[in-house]
Amino acid sequence: MVETAPSPFTPGYGRKPVIFGGHREELTDLRAVFDTLDFGENHSVLVSGLRGAGKTSFMTTLEDHARDAGWLVISDDASAGLMGRVMDSTIPTLINDMTPASRARLTSFGVWEFSADIEYVNRHRSVKPQLRSDLTALSSALGTSEGILITIDEVSSGKVRLRELSRFALQISHALRDGAQIMVVFAGVKVSLDALLAEEHTTFLRRSREVEFERLTAPETRRVFAETARVGGRRVEDEALTKLVSLSQGYPYLVQLAGDYAWRNNSTAPTITLADASVAHDKAIRAVESRVISRVYGDLSDVDQKFLDAMAQDDDRTKVADIVKRMGVSDAYVQVYKKRLIDSGYVHAAGHGYVQFSLPYLGAYIRRQLAAEARDGGASGGWDAYPAPDLPS
Ligand SMILES: Nc1ncnc2c1ncn2[C@@H]1O[C@H](COP(=O)(O)OP(=O)(O)OP(=O)(O)O)[C@@H](O)[C@H]1O
Ligand SMILES: [Mg+2]
Repeated sequence: MVETAPSPFTPGYGRKPVIFGGHREELTDLRAVFDTLDFGENHSVLVSGLRGAGKTSFMTTLEDHARDAGWLVISDDASAGLMGRVMDSTIPTLINDMTPASRARLTSFGVWEFSADIEYVNRHRSVKPQLRSDLTALSSALGTSEGILITIDEVSSGKVRLRELSRFALQISHALRDGAQIMVVFAGVKVSLDALLAEEHTTFLRRSREVEFERLTAPETRRVFAETARVGGRRVEDEALTKLVSLSQGYPYLVQLAGDYAWRNNSTAPTITLADASVAHDKAIRAVESRVISRVYGDLSDVDQKFLDAMAQDDDRTKVADIVKRMGVSDAYVQVYKKRLIDSGYVHAAGHGYVQFSLPYLGAYIRRQLAAEARDGGASGGWDAYPAPDLPS
């Protein structure tokens, strides 16, 4: 019996791809900072893009490069309690993983208490604990060619969270001013990052390097399919490649899903054929709908959804004036939502006065949802006609 080769494709949130498509320039520039500590404009980086476009994978890739260069890495997401997690758990663990020589240097800063054999014990109680002093001390204790990478994923625009995040950012900006060698990376959808920039204390982030995730170019998409398969030990026929590229539309999550299904269809054969790619087609699109597109749609506000519903009535692009009519609201109102959706990357302008879906298959998904609702008697599943009887008291 022939061994089945494990699939090298990586469908799933936060799973670092074997071959990373696109964004080479940014990766090269940022990697150079890890080697040289010559930051230029790269002290802070903002990573934005749609769900499943590769933000988390990009950050993981950066973290790996930073660790390889001997940097300390602090990585977390922007959920409640961030400051506490970083100061009480992440930093003590990092300290105990440092070389004895670096740890010995830390003792002189008076920020932490150490045991006789220089293990982290606690914080000094005499000083008010501040992330700023932690970072400054850590940075000084590192060698002259290493720094600290801080990555914060899942920035979202809830008020409380933003306030906490801006306090966190303020501490980082103080540490930067104190001369700490830090690169900080924030990732989220565009509207959330904009909301973060609008907070107090985050003005230093306006000078950030911006990395936007859209779909991959067609040649990069082709390269990802071919090279990922090669790493796994198989070849992809030309026609199969063409089919996979066009069905994935360069959307990273879909690239991995489609590649994975095509791989598994006949995984003992030496090549992936057009037949394998065709089987992958329907499966991948169905899976991306349930795992990605439904989440994308569910994240949106009611009005955003109504806007997209109005767009979905057209197969291709939609006239903005038609959206005004279909929604029955003012032109100015529609313009506000149009801008929001364009900023978030769901929609793009397609010629003067027109918009189009950016995310492949979002329009088709909405059309199918609306049709199903109409068939089943509306959003309530037809139950409006059958109210529950009052129970006898
Ligand atoms: N540059 C890339 N080239 C090829 N595949 C990629 C690339 N980036 C990400 N992927 C794949 O795309 C999928 C989604 O990646 P990831 O979880 O990083 O997206 P995300 O933008 O963080 O999504 P979310 O907004 O939901 O957190 C994963 O299966 C990953 O392996
Ligand atoms: Mg992510």
